[in-house]
Amino acid sequence: MPYNLIDGKAIANQIKTEIAGEVAEIIAKGGKRPHLAVIIVGHDGGSEAYVAHKAKSCEQVGFRSTTIAFEDTVGESELLKEIDSLNNNADVDGFIVQLPLPKHISEQKIIEAIDYRKDVDGFHPINVGKMSIGLPSYVSATPAGILELLKRYDIATAGKNCVVIGRSNIVGKPVAMLLMQKAYPGDATVTICHSRTKNLKEICREADIIIAALGRPEFLTADMVKEGAVVIDVGTTRVPSEQTKSGFRLCGDVKFDEVAPKCSYITPVPGGVGPMTIVSLLRNTLLAAKKEIYPT
Ligand code: GUN
Repeated sequence: MPYNLIDGKAIANQIKTEIAGEVAEIIAKGGKRPHLAVIIVGHDGGSEAYVAHKAKSCEQVGFRSTTIAFEDTVGESELLKEIDSLNNNADVDGFIVQLPLPKHISEQKIIEAIDYRKDVDGFHPINVGKMSIGLPSYVSATPAGILELLKRYDIATAGKNCVVIGRSNIVGKPVAMLLMQKAYPGDATVTICHSRTKNLKEICREADIIIAALGRPEFLTADMVKEGAVVIDVGTTRVPSEQTKSGFRLCGDVKFDEVAPKCSYITPVPGGVGPMTIVSLLRNTLLAAKKEIYPT
């Protein structure tokens, strides 16, 4: 079957142009430049690359961006102090704390310390709760990016069997919630699978849409996919490579070469969901700057 490649990079560029236009309008009217701050702890290669990419993307759309870096020896109380300072900094519209954090720091405590009105990652329980019941909220970036791709490619979701592999708080759970909501994209019949699921292959073979978000390179193979399915690959595992300058390449959760010929639509890695994640964060920051979700 000739498959359609979902070009996340192209869509992300299109959306960046749209956001840059809005920023230019705000500035022309004498408004404040949207400002995103990012806290990063330690030197995880993936996180550092991702944060650098965020800063560059902010610049591209005309946002101000601030990166606050801590060594991985930082204490929880010092981190909480920085969060308090960002919560009270009127120039900062939104901020995120890059995950994962070192083991001695409670991620949940950190997430809950962020003012939910500045939580552009959409990780605070208030935003997660509001999202779950369909109220305006910051929707976390990867799920929002996936829905935007489905929308921009006009992919039908109503009544479709959608299988999400992976139950993380960042991707699996929220994307499942969004796909079951009375909306477009949404109205799907959603099944969430994970490491304890029985008959995973059989369940996947019934799926019209598969979202692979378990973080295991090339996990989804052709025998798990029905002809004509839509496959969204959220995997971004860094694997050693002699072919790249960095010494790494990104590997998705889908065995692309064998799965793609069975698909109607499929996202590549890199260039699929990844670029959309950053753009969703930019969009949330713009919403924060415009106070659209939380007016006060
Ligand atoms: N680590 C991996 N993805 C994300 C994300 O979307 N936000 C944050 N803060 N950390 C992450």
